Amino acid sequence: MLLEVAIANEGDVVILLSRAARALGAAGVDGVDAASILTVCAELGHNIARYGKYGQLRLTVEPTGGGRRIVVEASDHGPGIADVEAAMRDHFSTGNSLGLGLPGVRRLTDTLEITSRNGCGTRVIATRVLGAGAWPKSAAIPSLGAARRVQP
Ligand SMILES: Nc1ncnc2c1ncn2[C@@H]1O[C@H](COP(=O)(O)OP(=O)(O)O)[C@@H](O)[C@H]1O
Ligand SMILES: [Mg+2]
Repeated sequence: MLLEVAIANEGDVVILLSRAARALGAAGVDGVDAASILTVCAELGHNIARYGKYGQLRLTVEPTGGGRRIVVEASDHGPGIADVEAAMRDHFSTGNSLGLGLPGVRRLTDTLEITSRNGCGTRVIATRVLGAGAWPKSAAIPSLGAARRVQP
């Protein structure tokens, strides 16, 4: 594991980003991979602080078919996402903001899985294979994204 940071507010997201930047650099992750993963951390961390009340974000590096991938896991104990399919759509927001966080995470990653349980919280797992280039990611292959809501 590269990093685990507890998140309860926006200040924690700033700490997360500086620590994640350092951890990725130490692991030899740079360029478009590092920028993409830091953006994913920012979006998921921000969503925890804003919607999830408190939780944590974990970064792991693991081998994959001759290369490596980064796993970003964000989990919180907030209210959960009422409609995961809707939350994945561009410009859907219950917070009067842009609604591009989760769709952006999908575009920057190879796999995305969201598990949300009403009243118990949300778990988002996103992975990105390193060294595969900037584009296209899963925006072009929507079936790679998985959205799941666990009934209470
Ligand atoms: N961790 C979370 N807990 C509860 N709801 C969430 C969480 N993350 C996202 N959501 C819901 O999904 C919606 C879309 O999220 P996102 O795409 O990041 O857009 P935005 O943050 O601009 O609202 C949010 O408006 C919110 O309703
Ligand atoms: Mg957001």
